[in-house]
Amino acid sequence: MKKRVMVLTGGGDCPGLNAVIRAVVKRAAQEREWEVIGSIESFNGVLREPTEIKVLDEHTVEEIHIQGGTILGTTTKGGPFAWPIKNKDGTWGAADRSDEMLRKLQYLGVEAVISIGGDGSQKISQALYEKGCNIIGVPKTIDNDLSATDSTFGFRTAVQEATEAVDKLVTTAASHNRVMILEVMGRSAGWIALHTAIAGGAEVCLIPELPYDINKVLDAVYQRFDGEKGFAIVVIAEGAHAKGGKIVAKEATEIGDTNVKLGGVGFKLAQDLKDLGLEAGIRVTVLGHLQRGGVPLAFDRILASQFGVKAFEMVLEGKFGEMVSYKESKITSVSLKDATKEYNYVNLDDYLVKSARGMGISFGD
Ligand code: F6P
Repeated sequence: MKKRVMVLTGGGDCPGLNAVIRAVVKRAAQEREWEVIGSIESFNGVLREPTEIKVLDEHTVEEIHIQGGTILGTTTKGGPFAWPIKNKDGTWGAADRSDEMLRKLQYLGVEAVISIGGDGSQKISQALYEKGCNIIGVPKTIDNDLSATDSTFGFRTAVQEATEAVDKLVTTAASHNRVMILEVMGRSAGWIALHTAIAGGAEVCLIPELPYDINKVLDAVYQRFDGEKGFAIVVIAEGAHAKGGKIVAKEATEIGDTNVKLGGVGFKLAQDLKDLGLEAGIRVTVLGHLQRGGVPLAFDRILASQFGVKAFEMVLEGKFGEMVSYKESKITSVSLKDATKEYNYVNLDDYLVKSARGMGISFGD
């Protein structure tokens, strides 16, 4: 029987996941004694009865690097440490099924696991590693908020989508003399907003790392108007908030999903500007999941492919408990423990921030 490596995708999907899967499978195909299997919807495929796993061969992964999403499916719910269970009183709780899962992996002949996921998924990887699982992490996130890697695939594709949205908003804003607010994703990191504001040439960029003063935002918007004529583009990160204000978020409503759902700050900003007397028309676009879908850019496919090959080579080298990383233009690895210690937020001394300011983009500060 061949040695089995299991690959899975966890957390929110991200353009480039399929390119990683394909690269793992193609690299593994060069080693005769190895076979790749995929677990459907992260670890849930292993935990379900009957199990949902599939053999991935070169035929299965043909041309998938071009596709967004993930052929394995993904989820932000469930997992080995927090499997949703219904309590007697009808409420939902969570069960730790990690020991059972490790036994199942053994039964399935899985010698190593490659877990492609963001911060939450890699924390699960580390916990499984501590329990003896031969696991390797591959970082993914459109938010670019992982500190252990200089880049994650998916981020550039998201920025491209958001920039194209700004390009479109400019023409309609200019035609109607309006203020257009574009709300982008990123959770508590302002990377997507910052890159988009620079690439799209926005007037205002509001990020979580720099709480804004609404009066300063208003001033920046007015500067683009001569009387009633003019227009302004405001890019706001979903996690941004006013000085002394709160983020706009709701609790998740889906069973098993514990992630707070950000969204709606663009509408709050529009209302606050109106309340301050802004007479220009304001329209809000929440770009949402359009940033996550679609075809990955070439850069993201290339990075993802390198991550996939590296992950499989780490399996061969027995480098378990580590996460693939892109540091200083090199594909390398870091311990999962270090990888999950801190986030990567926009550093206000970053040259990107300086460049934005240098071009007159206001952060509302
Ligand atoms: O972390 C990726 C991300 O797209 C965030 O930018 C966003 O806040 C969140 O996931 C959305 O999650 P969901 O797909 O569960 O709504």
